[in-house]
Amino acid sequence: MLNQIKDLHKQIKEISAASAQQAEELRIKYLGQKGIVKHLFDQFKQLSKEEKKSIGAPLNILKKEVQEKIEALKQQFESHTNVSSSASKDLTLPGSDSFKGSIHPIWATKQQICEIFSKMGFCLSEGPEVEDDWHNFTALNFPEHHPARDMQDTFFVDNNKGYSLRTHTSSVQVRVMENQKPPIKTISPGRVYRNEAISARSHCFFHQIEGLYIDEKVSFASLKQTLLTFAQEFFGAETKIRLRPSYFPFTEPSAEMDVSCFICKQEGCNICKYSGWVEILGCGMVDPNVLSNCGIDSETYSGYAFGMGIERMTMLKYQINDIRLFYENDQRFLSQFKTL
Ligand code: DAH
Repeated sequence: MLNQIKDLHKQIKEISAASAQQAEELRIKYLGQKGIVKHLFDQFKQLSKEEKKSIGAPLNILKKEVQEKIEALKQQFESHTNVSSSASKDLTLPGSDSFKGSIHPIWATKQQICEIFSKMGFCLSEGPEVEDDWHNFTALNFPEHHPARDMQDTFFVDNNKGYSLRTHTSSVQVRVMENQKPPIKTISPGRVYRNEAISARSHCFFHQIEGLYIDEKVSFASLKQTLLTFAQEFFGAETKIRLRPSYFPFTEPSAEMDVSCFICKQEGCNICKYSGWVEILGCGMVDPNVLSNCGIDSETYSGYAFGMGIERMTMLKYQINDIRLFYENDQRFLSQFKTL
């Protein structure tokens, strides 16, 4: 019987199959109910105890070897089938749709506003988010004890109140005026920070766009026309504007600008609180003190400035009622802006 086992070892090494069917036939021949291995096990049962001791182990090894070989033969055809079936796939078909992101609504609004002003000749300038006292406050004519300088409103970076996270993009005005000679016509978008409780209406950081125009004989009328053009481009051609007197330390005179409510067309709605007008920005003529602080001759030059919140513009445009949605990165919210 040992000789039979040895012969089978040899045979098994040499067998091969040309098809899945041949492999199956070999399985039946060796491992089937009436197969060679089964037959050997039947013979094994007839042996004496002594013989069983010497034959048992080689017989089991043989069985394992046969099983592995047949399995290998079969697998060879299974993988062949896969290859041939993938070869029959149409590789010229477009791939399955992968996940596509979308432009963040704050970014899209920023881009749109910048484009409108760039068509009117404004160039782009940016400044740092960590700002010193001079650029964020002093050069802009903020008095020593102005409430905006307070710990409650501003995130200070050091204890000496020397550096803070900028509270507005007006700081960029100062940097531009210090570094360029008039005529200056620039817009400065960027993130600003305020020590505010987070709610549906306010956040501790948001985005602004600042505008600045300095030249000889820049007038308030020119400011008004620029802002009207902007409002009509952004909210629609029928949009009207109105300027209300206001106060900012860095402009004199100062104003706040409202646009006619583009939702209800001044019929009265929640957005305009039934007034027909929606406030969108602050503006004014650059205070001569600010010009001199930045090394510009206030006798020769005048200028206007304006600043608006990008979140506010986006919320109005898309009627979004909670500012926190912009920063939560919730796909359900963001995917609604896929077409932007
Ligand atoms: N800096 C102001 C703010 O953060 C916005 C502003 C108002 C900017 C009037 C200006 C301006 O340039 O002229 O509320």
